[in-house]
Amino acid sequence: MRIAVVGTGYVGLVTGACLAEFGMFVTCVDIDEKKIEMLNRGEIPIYEPGLDVVVEKNSKAGRLKFTTDIEEAVKNNLVIFIAVGTPPKDDGSADLTYVENVAKDIAKYMNGYKVIVNKSTVPVGTGQKVKKIIRDIVGDKYKFDVVSNPEFLREGAAVNDFMRPDRIVIGAESDEAVAIMKDIYSAHYLGEAPFVVTNIETAEMIKYASNAFLALKITFINEVANLCDLVGADVHKVAKAMGMDGRISPKFLHPGPGYGGSCFPKDTLALCNIAKEHGYQFKVVEAAIEVNEEQKLRMVDKIMGLLGVEKKEGVLEGKTISVLGLAFKPNTDDMRESPAIIIINELLKYGAKIKAFDPIAMENAKKIFGDKIEYCSDEYETVQDSDCLTIVTEWNQFRKLDMERIGGLMKEKNLADLRNIYEPAKMRKLGFNYTCVGRSKV
Ligand code: UDX
Repeated sequence: MRIAVVGTGYVGLVTGACLAEFGMFVTCVDIDEKKIEMLNRGEIPIYEPGLDVVVEKNSKAGRLKFTTDIEEAVKNNLVIFIAVGTPPKDDGSADLTYVENVAKDIAKYMNGYKVIVNKSTVPVGTGQKVKKIIRDIVGDKYKFDVVSNPEFLREGAAVNDFMRPDRIVIGAESDEAVAIMKDIYSAHYLGEAPFVVTNIETAEMIKYASNAFLALKITFINEVANLCDLVGADVHKVAKAMGMDGRISPKFLHPGPGYGGSCFPKDTLALCNIAKEHGYQFKVVEAAIEVNEEQKLRMVDKIMGLLGVEKKEGVLEGKTISVLGLAFKPNTDDMRESPAIIIINELLKYGAKIKAFDPIAMENAKKIFGDKIEYCSDEYETVQDSDCLTIVTEWNQFRKLDMERIGGLMKEKNLADLRNIYEPAKMRKLGFNYTCVGRSKV
């Protein structure tokens, strides 16, 4: 099986490398020459645990190659995955320029039957658009199929998610295309992952509905947590007991500072836009988007509460706040839509001095905050002389800090544990003025 993957971003690179790992010959294509040069030198442009090993191994074995030559990639391969970006436009709808350009290139270089697989998250109807773009160019000269095969990869766990999928969604219009897609994925050593075969529109909708539902779930537990803080309940126990109900499931019930990342914020907005375009208002997702934005700001209120100050101009002048964790979640250097951005910018707005540390995301953080904040080299340096420690991302290495030492280094022992990684009672015993999300009064 010979496969081309166009776009060597997060999804494309993981897909290409993992398909090569299953013995297929994969050509990864990108227009970014620098990126392709990097990959050909064996350097991985993103931080993703385990991906370097898979890329190196399969490049050496000759199953994985990187090129800017889309013509060769289209001509030499039967299956062409489109995995280019679909960034949000100002109105929140997805920008399909990259997808459309790839479709035009594929049409231009087509030399026989091809299966064109959309892996990028695209609005419902895009598969048909891609089909039309190609058909308009090639006419009846060649037969081809367009397939929607959405990915469900989590950053930080993408290789594993690709290898062990809960389901493989194939949206296609011909038996031939479905058979080819099944052939590709039956190479998984966990070949038992169930296939869901649908039409193209359904497959496109599955991706949005899944991500929006997860965003709703997180937002729901965040609101339960906010209420727990007011009534003296423990959100961890509430979530645990809720999750024991098989209809609910325990996953994605961790409260925190709000969801971020490259998918949930973008996909929830895009889903609302798709709905609007069809004359429908997706109220529950719109509400989740609004509540999620508020949740990030609520974290700033919590910090102000700990410091005993009212939210007003200049109120944090002279205060130093240390922030541990900047990435939108652990095991990634990705800062896109990270709650840390809103929280830090708000704290700066009220005059605070910020000292920050993240195990991996420091370089990306520098691009966002520049010299507005101080960058530290470890946890203990970060908390030195600070008035409040704020934990924004739950990196494992933050879970067992020497909290006595931390307390001793701080000017004031205020702790805003926005990922609930410490026990409230223990922290209070150590003399911390402690707050978290949904267990603040337990
Ligand atoms: C998500 C989906 O999980 C994945 O299937 C899809 O393909 C892409 O989007 P990702 O954005 O990488 O993956 O991370 P995920 O682990 O889902 O977390 C997203 C955000 O939700 C993070 O900000 C995380 O901190 C937050 N989150 C997650 C919570 O606040 N609570 C939870 O219980 C779970």
